[in-house]
Amino acid sequence: MDKIDIEMLVRRHLQELGVGVGSSEKKEYIVAANWKMNMTEKETRKFLTELKSTEIPENIRVMIFPPYPYLYIMKEMLRYERIAYGAQDVAKEEQGAYTGEVSAGMLGDMGCPVTLVGHSERRSYYGDTPEITAKKAKAALEHQITPMLCIGETLEEREGRRYEGVLKSQLDAVYEALGNRMGECLIAYEPVWAIGTGVIPSLEQIHETHRYIYQVLRGYGVSEEDIRILYGGSVNAGNVKDIASVKYVDGFLIGGAGLKADSFKTIIRLASEVS
Ligand code: PGA
Repeated sequence: MDKIDIEMLVRRHLQELGVGVGSSEKKEYIVAANWKMNMTEKETRKFLTELKSTEIPENIRVMIFPPYPYLYIMKEMLRYERIAYGAQDVAKEEQGAYTGEVSAGMLGDMGCPVTLVGHSERRSYYGDTPEITAKKAKAALEHQITPMLCIGETLEEREGRRYEGVLKSQLDAVYEALGNRMGECLIAYEPVWAIGTGVIPSLEQIHETHRYIYQVLRGYGVSEEDIRILYGGSVNAGNVKDIASVKYVDGFLIGGAGLKADSFKTIIRLASEVS
């Protein structure tokens, strides 16, 4: 595929996600909720009903990552909404005898334009190595599904000042598999030590780390306008505005504060106010 084709493809992906196509003057942010293994069918329907009752600001792109069984409800209830949804993980294989796995093709059938890959919980509890994560990202892209690649260092790696090398090797593995399609990934920087702990890095640390990731992506040849780096880890209504004001932060991946429609809606509103 030549360069023009690839650029067209990236743009189409982002358009399908509603990213970068608003007419708003304000900076655009992706506000994404990762529900992990939480919620019931009833709670899912209630959350979506409440979310749909608010107008989503023009400069905000909302995404929800529910557990697999509830993708069906997303498909049913979000048909005409400006709210995207996706899976929390995807199989690296195409199809066949892989009990318990869900393929990218199936996610496509469920109407998912996006899937998480490499979340730190997948990496630490389920053995998702950088190479496995890369295969998952590739499988997603082969079905026109945008991978949201999660990367992040542990506290020990941060304190030992090894975090840049760790992030680079997590990114390198995916670049090796995707090559010039790397720009089709969304990136979520989630320091492991900030996930579910109530502790967030300083704004300076977020700025430096996002800038570093940005530079690595530029080094792969990803064009500036295709780079989207979300921050994740203990984001809530109290800190979202400060984090949003940091350069190179293009959105948020939210766990705990994305489980209640009220707090999620507040975060959406606050992020939309940052210019
Ligand atoms: P948290 O989770 O917001 O609860 O820290 C974020 C994530 O794991 O994506």
